[in-house]
Amino acid sequence: MSGKVYLYPIWIRLWHILNALLCLILIITGISMHYASPEGTRISFGLSVTMHNICGIVLTANYLIFFLGNLFTGNGLNYIIQFRNFRQRMWKQIRYYAFGVFLKEQAPFPIGSARKFNPLQQVTYAAMMYFIVPLVFITGWALLFPNVIAEKWLGVDTFALTDFLHIAGGFGVSVFLIIHLYFATMGHKPTDHYKAMWSGYHDDETEHESKDHL
Ligand code: HEM
Ligand code: HEM
Repeated sequence: MSGKVYLYPIWIRLWHILNALLCLILIITGISMHYASPEGTRISFGLSVTMHNICGIVLTANYLIFFLGNLFTGNGLNYIIQFRNFRQRMWKQIRYYAFGVFLKEQAPFPIGSARKFNPLQQVTYAAMMYFIVPLVFITGWALLFPNVIAEKWLGVDTFALTDFLHIAGGFGVSVFLIIHLYFATMGHKPTDHYKAMWSGYHDDETEHESKDHL
C-alpha cells in the first residue's frame, strides 16, 4: 500500500476548476454563435456574445494566475519537456494507453513524488497551456477590439485569419477536453485522478524511484 503525496496545491485546484468551467461555457457559447441563424438559436445570440466576452476576459485573468504560479513555484518544472529518449518514452505511454491498460499492465510512468506527469501528459499539458490557450485568448482579445488588427497582411484578410485561428484554437481546446476527461479515468480506479484533483492528494506510486525532475 503506497502513501499519499500532495501533488495539486490549492492554487492549482482553484485555477483548474475555474478554467474548466469557463472553457465549458466558452465552448457552448462559441458554438452557439458560430451556428447562429436568423431563425434563432437555443441560447439568444446577444446572451451568447455577452457570456462569451465576460468568460473570455475572466479566463485570461485566470491564466495569469496559472502563468505566475508556474513561474514562481516548483509546479512549472513539471512542464519542462524531457527530451531524453523522447520517442521511446512517448511510444511506451501511447502503447500503454492503447493496450497495456486493458491488459492490466503496470503503468510505465507511475505518478507520485518522483514524477507528476507521464510523458504524454507533459507534452499535451505544456502545448495546451503555453500554446493553444494563449492562442485562443490572444485572438479572442483581437476579436474584441478588431480595430487593433491591420486590415490586410501580405494580401490576407487579417480579421478572417484571426477568426479562423480563434476557432481552430477553440476546436483544439474542445478535442483536448474530451481526451483529457477520458485519460483522467486511467488511475487504479476510474475516479482516482478526479479525487486527487479535488483533494490535492495522489497515491505515491513512485516511492521507490529517485526524484528525476521534481
Ligand atoms: C475555450 C475557449 C474558447 C472557445 C472554444 C471559443 C470559441 C469561439 C467561437 C466558436 C466563436 C465564433 C466565431 C465565428 O463563428 O466566427 C468565438 C467568437 C469570439 N470569441 Fe471565442 N472562444 C474561446 C475563448 C475566447 C476568449 C478567451 C476570448 C476573449 C478574451 C474570446 C473572444 C471572442 C470574441 C470577441 C468572439 C467574436 C464574437 C463576440 O463578439 O463575442 N473567446 N469564439
Ligand atoms: C470538466 C472539465 C475538466 C475536468 C473534469 C478535468 C480533470 C482533471 C483531472 C482529474 C486532473 C488531474 C489528473 C490528471 O493530470 O489527469 C487534471 C489536471 C489538469 N488539467 Fe484538467 N480537467 C478539466 C478541464 C481542463 C481544461 C479545459 C484544461 C485546459 C484547457 C485542463 C488542463 C489541465 C492541466 C494543465 C492539468 C495539470 C495541472 C497541474 O497539476 O499542473 N483541464 N484535470
